[in-house]
Amino acid sequence: MRVGLLTGGGDVPGLNAVIRAVVKRGEGEHGHSIVGFRHGWRGLADGDVMPLTRSHIRNVLPTGGTLLGTARYHPHSDDGGLDAVRATLEEERIEALICIGGDGTLHAASKVAESGVKIVAVPKTIDNDVWGTDRSIGFDTAVSIATEAVDRIHTTAESHNRVMIVEVMGRHAGWIAATAGIAGGAELVLAPEEPFDIDRVVRFLQHRHRAHASFSIIVVAEGAVPMEGSSMTYETRLGPFGEIVAGAISERLGAEIAARTGFDTRVTILGHVQRGGTPTPADRILGSRMGVAAIDAVSAGESGVMTALRGDDVVLVPLSEIAGKVKQVPAEMLEVARALA
Ligand code: F6P
Repeated sequence: MRVGLLTGGGDVPGLNAVIRAVVKRGEGEHGHSIVGFRHGWRGLADGDVMPLTRSHIRNVLPTGGTLLGTARYHPHSDDGGLDAVRATLEEERIEALICIGGDGTLHAASKVAESGVKIVAVPKTIDNDVWGTDRSIGFDTAVSIATEAVDRIHTTAESHNRVMIVEVMGRHAGWIAATAGIAGGAELVLAPEEPFDIDRVVRFLQHRHRAHASFSIIVVAEGAVPMEGSSMTYETRLGPFGEIVAGAISERLGAEIAARTGFDTRVTILGHVQRGGTPTPADRILGSRMGVAAIDAVSAGESGVMTALRGDDVVLVPLSEIAGKVKQVPAEMLEVARALA
């Protein structure tokens, strides 16, 4: 078979592990030819092809980013996009496609699959909010980067008696905020799942600084919002693909806290540093397992499915089941973050 492969949406560490696994298993075990498309769906629409053989995947396991390149482009929202995708698939004689992506790419995958193309998807996003899988590739690396940042912020917060706000990624779900907050021992975690009450935040800080501490660390997800009807009004600012304008909520929160408490307050926005660099062993392993599962699924004639981690097992779930859903942080985990303040 000739099998197409693309990576779409924001990059994450661990993508190259998936590409490597698909190529090694696909060529070696199944005898397929793997054809890469550069820059996600954009490359598929434009016919931007890159051959993928063993020589292209040498030494890529420890590398971040994606050797195929990526882009935020959705063929179903572009005039003639789906026709262009089908034309390239025909020209390249592609019999099935493996798409590695987050919510946007997976939504595009289900649209393309509806038009009769055989597709197997692989979930990746540092936000870890893809429904149907316990983990998405890239999340573990992002948590370890964010935790290290919180650890580092700790010492300077203490030295200066400051309130330090650390903003992490997470548009619709606060997975990085909750896990790095717990692992780094943050005093407060603010996540999109539970809109916050600024008055309670202020009371908590004042009480803590009066009673037993001279500094506090708040980890805030970029998608966190204040409660409706509370004394802070705020509207999330979005870019064209639903990406959040980095720093907006944390800068505002910092200003509110400083004004309401008088505490010396500083803001650190981790931004794309969370998506860069070497993948952790966990992401290399998950990427490798999902890559093998994806090419095996293609070889078995599966289509319209996504590889998913359920407990310790990698399984296949229908793409139609995950479309339009967001996997949020369970209330229990947010409670742990609160309980250990
Ligand atoms: O989807 C992952 C993500 O990292 C979001 O958390 C963030 O809002 C967005 O990507 C940033 O996107 P971009 O790389 O386009 O700025």
